[in-house]
Amino acid sequence: MSLLLGVNIDHIATLRQARYAHMPTSPNAEPSPYQAGLDALEGGADSLTIHVRMDRRHMQDADAYEIREKIKAPLNLEMGITEEMLGLALKLKPEYVCLVPETREEITTEGGLDVLGRFDTTRMVVARLQSAGMKVSLFINPDLKQVEAAGEACADMVELHTGCFSNAQGDLVKGQVERLVAAAEEAHLSGMQVNAGHGINYANVTRLFEVPHLAELNIGHSIIARSTRVGLTAAVREMKELMAGYPL
Ligand code: PXP
Repeated sequence: MSLLLGVNIDHIATLRQARYAHMPTSPNAEPSPYQAGLDALEGGADSLTIHVRMDRRHMQDADAYEIREKIKAPLNLEMGITEEMLGLALKLKPEYVCLVPETREEITTEGGLDVLGRFDTTRMVVARLQSAGMKVSLFINPDLKQVEAAGEACADMVELHTGCFSNAQGDLVKGQVERLVAAAEEAHLSGMQVNAGHGINYANVTRLFEVPHLAELNIGHSIIARSTRVGLTAAVREMKELMAGYPL
């Protein structure tokens, strides 16, 4: 199995909402997240990721249902731990759910989930989603205590937060890669699938090849940014070509 790519298409909805948030039923509302999903798959995306946020700043419930109904590829729903989102996940029934921390003020998902600090709630939500047939991932910082707690919460997968890695420069990158390596090894030993995401781009993705046991990368911003130059299908294809060098 090659390293899989989940393409996060939230920012297609961000662009549409910039103009049409107050005219959701306008026939002019564009671009379409559903069409973006098709384009990403044509470029070789292995799955689609959407984050329905509490403030609905980009993806709307209608987008999630449209993508779920019309596209057969695996869907990964990112969600904060709330009753409302749990209700949406149980109706939508995506193949995968990734639990993420969410505050209203942040620009994007900042930091990982505190599984240790919210253990009972996290464990309960993981179990409810799993009993409805979904595989559950926890988005955590590459911190051994959080990895251990994710294993104890019976998560199927962890998604290691690569934000610190992608923000590091020069000599500081090495230390961040080492944190990811240690976390990936620990998660793999605990029997969880190891994914990674946040801030991964065309320039830094190959540095992640030092991290063992990676099954999937989740990438949004850089691919959507590149799509403004070459189109989404080509942007995804370029990323897949880079990822093909991952030593499995
Ligand atoms: N993984 C998770 C859990 C995220 O919240 C995000 C951001 O939405 C991503 C991956 C993708 O990050 P980026 O847009 O920086 O590629």
